[in-house]
Amino acid sequence: MKLSGLAPMALRFQAIRSPLIRAMILREWWHQGVAINTFDRSFRRDPYPVLREIREKDPVHWMETARGWLITRYDDVSELLRDPRISADRTPTTVDAPWRRGSEIQGWIEHSLLGLDPPDHTRLRNLVNRAFTPRVVEQMRDRIETMADGLLDQVEARGEMDIIRDYAEPLPIQVIAELLGAPQEDHHRFAQWSAAMSGALDIAFYKKTIDDADRAVVEMREYFRPLLEARRREPREDLLTALVQAEEAGDRLSEDELYSFCIILLAAGHETTTNMIGNMFLALLRNPGELERVRRDPGLAPGAVEETLRYDPPPQATTRRALEDMQVGRRGIRAGDMLVLSFAAANRDPERFEDPDRFDTGREDNRHLAFGMGPHYCMGAPLARMEGQIALTRMLERFTRFGSIPGARPMRRNTGTVRALTSLPVRLDAG
Ligand code: HEM
Repeated sequence: MKLSGLAPMALRFQAIRSPLIRAMILREWWHQGVAINTFDRSFRRDPYPVLREIREKDPVHWMETARGWLITRYDDVSELLRDPRISADRTPTTVDAPWRRGSEIQGWIEHSLLGLDPPDHTRLRNLVNRAFTPRVVEQMRDRIETMADGLLDQVEARGEMDIIRDYAEPLPIQVIAELLGAPQEDHHRFAQWSAAMSGALDIAFYKKTIDDADRAVVEMREYFRPLLEARRREPREDLLTALVQAEEAGDRLSEDELYSFCIILLAAGHETTTNMIGNMFLALLRNPGELERVRRDPGLAPGAVEETLRYDPPPQATTRRALEDMQVGRRGIRAGDMLVLSFAAANRDPERFEDPDRFDTGREDNRHLAFGMGPHYCMGAPLARMEGQIALTRMLERFTRFGSIPGARPMRRNTGTVRALTSLPVRLDAG
């Protein structure tokens, strides 16, 4: 639902229950002629029409509820992600700041790779790069195929499945747990920790969300301590050993940095991949011509993954902070201002992508921003791509047809910052 124009505006305002948020959105609309309400249900169902309107009318837009600048043009987002005048400082400013400050999870976010700037970020990233190499990822290929097959074995006889619960959720958790050397019986703990962390990586309206994530961070540190000690005593051919041994110019990862990286793999790598797999199957089901195209030519599976990441990116945006006064488009940004860089809007910018609202698995020149860009570019991109491609090809090989179950609608997590399905039921016909 667009927020421009007085009639839709009045309707939208009735729907906003919090007087504070209503006042913020009204102020935003009054001063800028457009407003974005990420709490609105229709925005959460389909944010792209509103993002298009903002990109067209006010591409560098002050968002009252985020207290920051929403940046929506592809060129601006990609340039700012690489601009040294921009910091990854994640000091909380959003509505949940009071219970975030001083929490374990916030401390972890600020001191993890995600929150550091060069030179601290460069040092840490170089060290973990020595361990988390393309070879480590490639070695996982056979295992990921076996895991995907195992999950499909479990649903085949049922004739239907929930793609999220039965496939997109368990697959990435098994991958990360195995990558980190955790035995099978501990996988459910990883799932619990991941769920607790993901709540706190979003805006946390309740203090309990932060408390749960704090507990998860403490438990994860306790969990990894003996595993890392064991690798020091008895090195193995695995990622944990490589992390313990990683060394550059006499420098090594400290104890805290080791735990922090294990935690980031789970926090950054699980839910994002689940969401990508879910969004991919949803886009294919809603575009049956494209599903048929990939079925006929499985060589298009990598294209389907890339197109999903462009068309419906799981994290819709990331945040940064300006270190100095600067001009972006026609707007003057002040040192200290927060920037909300919208991957979702940038990935649909018609100046960069032809016919951007079309889901096209054969799209060429698909340099989307779903994995970010610049120094913080996603370290897990090759792994995520491999998981997405395997999830799709194994499903297509196993089932000659799969389609929506009449009356069973996909369910979505109620959030404005992540595109996340919680349920996607399908019926299956084995080949
Ligand atoms: C489809 C799945 C995924 C998506 C869409 C995704 C997206 C992203 C994005 C947008 C960033 C940059 C955030 C920023 O600039 O503020 C990022 C960073 C990161 N991702 Fe991913 N990610 C995915 C999967 C993974 C996986 C599977 C792993 C590892 C197992 C992973 C590990 C990381 C790490 C370690 C960083 C931090 C890099 C840094 O700050 O230097 N991600 N990811």
